[in-house]
Amino acid sequence: MVSVTLAVLGGGGNLGPWIVSELVSAGLSVTGVTREGSTNSTPKFQEGLDVKTVNYNSFDALKEAFTGQDAVVSVVGAPGINAQKLAVDAAIAAGVQRFIPSEFGVNTRRVRDQPIGKVLAGKIAVVDYLQEKAKEHPGFTWTGLTTGLFFDSVFKLGSSGINLQEKTVTIIDSGNEKWQASRKSHIGKAVVGILKHPEETANKYIGTASFNLSQNELVAIVEELTGQKLAVIPQSSKDLQKVGEEKLAQGDYRAFVDLLRVHLHADGAGNALQDAANEVLGLPFEDLREVVKSLL
Ligand SMILES: NC(=O)c1ccc[n+]([C@@H]2O[C@H](COP(=O)([O-])OP(=O)(O)OC[C@H]3O[C@@H](n4cnc5c(N)ncnc54)[C@H](OP(=O)(O)O)[C@@H]3O)[C@@H](O)[C@H]2O)c1
Repeated sequence: MVSVTLAVLGGGGNLGPWIVSELVSAGLSVTGVTREGSTNSTPKFQEGLDVKTVNYNSFDALKEAFTGQDAVVSVVGAPGINAQKLAVDAAIAAGVQRFIPSEFGVNTRRVRDQPIGKVLAGKIAVVDYLQEKAKEHPGFTWTGLTTGLFFDSVFKLGSSGINLQEKTVTIIDSGNEKWQASRKSHIGKAVVGILKHPEETANKYIGTASFNLSQNELVAIVEELTGQKLAVIPQSSKDLQKVGEEKLAQGDYRAFVDLLRVHLHADGAGNALQDAANEVLGLPFEDLREVVKSLL
């Protein structure tokens, strides 16, 4: 799949432009797909990109948009996750060879039976569906990509525990647990890598990361680079898990943030990336210190 034409769904959002720009830089032919009635993202598609507006509830409209494309990359946000099943059906009917679903975070293959898996049930169901469909249609393949936390916003969203304004860090358990993180540019390159290595990545759920790191490693680098000490606020993963599960029981999906922090940082969580596909994808790991320096 060296010469690839592909459609990117939801490519004008938070992650999408990074993927689109890496695909275009790699010389792939890209069509952006946006929802009929979308008001929020079309202008964010990069200038000059061919963009099709499609009714995501119409099999025929999706099939028409995907006809002639080798691959479909979905970068839809949370409200669009369930819409991907019809897009999979349409992609198969259009003769698309590879579907990359909107994963790009937690390894959803590992959390099916955990509370955080309830929040991610839509993503889990889409990958299950892809597995089923690839068995039924041998010319059709898929690749799921876990990336861990988007590192670009690590100081803005607080998922690292660090609050630069307050000069504090909330450390969960010992702070030594390693977790998986990727920059959005790295994720874009990984998607290119998947399309350039179609055999190695067919019908697989793979992982990539800019790096694995612990809270304590990050704090040490931030303190060294800023010359400021961060005051430590200790937090027990058991307590935080309880908070998340209570919210979930009330149908409050903001529980995801609490459950995610436990998933990443709790002692023994084991969610650092063990089997990075970086080599297969032709991607080096990045230098944590240099990246942190660029973000501060
Ligand atoms: N690992 C992390 O730290 C992390 C952080 C954030 C997100 N993520 C993951 O990355 C992926 C992309 O997230 P994002 O933040 O880039 O998403 P986003 O910006 O919220 O949304 C991306 C696009 O999805 C489309 N969309 C919105 N509502 C939709 C609906 N109801 N049906 C179909 N499409 C809809 C929109 O495109 P149009 O308006 O053009 O149709 C939107 O621009 C998701 O899988 C998300 O879970 C991971």
